[in-house]
Amino acid sequence: LKAELNLDKNYQIGKVDERIYGSFIEHLGRAVYGGIYEPGHPKADEHGFRKDVMELVRALRVPIVRYPGGNMVSAYNWEDGVGPKEERPQRLELAWRTIETNQVGTNEFADWARKVGSEVMMAVNLGTRGIDAARNLIEYTNHPGGTYWSDLRRSHGYENPHNIKTWCLGNEMDGPWQVGQKTAYEYGRLASETAKAMRLVDPNIELVACGSSNTDMPTFAEWEATILDHTYEQVDYVSLHQYYGNHENDSANYLAKNMDMDHFIKTVISICDYIKAKHRSKKTLNLSFDEWNVWYHSGEHDKKLEPWTIAPPQLEDHYNFEDALLVGSMLITFLQHADRVKMACLAQLVNVIAPIMTENGGRAWKQTIYYPYLHVSVFGRGVSLQPILSSPKYDSKEFTDVPYIDCAAVLNEEAEELSVFLVNKHLSESISLTADFRSFKEYRVLEHIVLENDDLKAVNTAEQQTVIPHARGDASLKDGTLSVNLSKTSWNVIRLG
Ligand code: AHR
Repeated sequence: LKAELNLDKNYQIGKVDERIYGSFIEHLGRAVYGGIYEPGHPKADEHGFRKDVMELVRALRVPIVRYPGGNMVSAYNWEDGVGPKEERPQRLELAWRTIETNQVGTNEFADWARKVGSEVMMAVNLGTRGIDAARNLIEYTNHPGGTYWSDLRRSHGYENPHNIKTWCLGNEMDGPWQVGQKTAYEYGRLASETAKAMRLVDPNIELVACGSSNTDMPTFAEWEATILDHTYEQVDYVSLHQYYGNHENDSANYLAKNMDMDHFIKTVISICDYIKAKHRSKKTLNLSFDEWNVWYHSGEHDKKLEPWTIAPPQLEDHYNFEDALLVGSMLITFLQHADRVKMACLAQLVNVIAPIMTENGGRAWKQTIYYPYLHVSVFGRGVSLQPILSSPKYDSKEFTDVPYIDCAAVLNEEAEELSVFLVNKHLSESISLTADFRSFKEYRVLEHIVLENDDLKAVNTAEQQTVIPHARGDASLKDGTLSVNLSKTSWNVIRLG
């Protein structure tokens, strides 16, 4: 099979906001306790943070991490997690039906984020609480001092404010599973008034309004239109969440699911622009895809867990090779929408539907999905280019005209480096790609990284890294023509400079 590509420096989609390589840590399962934080672990630092985990996170160059939920935030009292640790209450955590010890809270998380080089994307509770708790929290985190909440922070050992810039106005407020679920009207009003109060405390913040929990929600689209009608001038982003799975073990169909994500993004952009027109607004709203991943392996296991335990192994999906391919394709989809998708969070980061896993007291290791996330985060910084691709196509159970090849390209103009990300979804054949690279004639191929495996279901474990990339791809560039053979079911990163 053959494919053709045309890429030019001047066909630009937009600058990549590095925050599309964000991630998420929720107080859920072993993400915090036993994940990023495990005092007594041989690799824990003086504050109880696991250094082995921090090292794996740092390598990913995660620019922003959403916290503390997720569903958990909708019944969370942030005050429980600050002050002397021995005085913090144990609480029933209602979203995941566990016991929350509150040994990690706002200040510890801000410390951890600083250590791994990330910003915090903080969510406020708009389920059981509202304007008052949110304005107090932002006074605690962002106000320099001389007031009740800012001085309380100082008394807790944090003289300087954390200056958290990005805030989520609640989480998945349309979901019946959410504590304090709201109608679109109720949420729109509450989010708008909370945004107003928070901006009065700190005008420099950016705010994300909750979009639908996923595209299958019965109120999808109407929800976005209604809540944005109320919040359009108060917020900067609307959120999108989506998880995919291969329940039917139909790999051709599964690998096409980023087409659904593409459609989702286009739909939400249209709704934002409709509200912009309706309000005669000059402002363009951007998208925060602040929960995305594969999530389906752990469902049955989780149903058997006993409630009300501390840090049980919840949502511990064990990812295989085909999951890594879909994650790669989803990252490509974000790059294709670099002009409007300005933030995205791989949900989540450690142990809970995560690229990084840990053993309590033991090792930390990388899942298959770690690699495409690593490659795009590290090499995908710059300007997203518009690939003109002509790829053979297939039809699957849910999708028609699925290109076998997905492609995104990012030009780092300063470093004069180009990274081309490609997935070949063909289950049995390699595809020979010829590309017109005339505007990169002076470049040479620095590296062609490939993630491939004959077994779509191959997994990594703490003992063995079966699915790991190699750099033996055959991409070559001659007289402005790039030639490459893309192996069947493979993830490819071609770096030129
Ligand atoms: O990421 C896991 C959960 O998925 C989050 O808590 C929630 O927001 C979503 O439903």
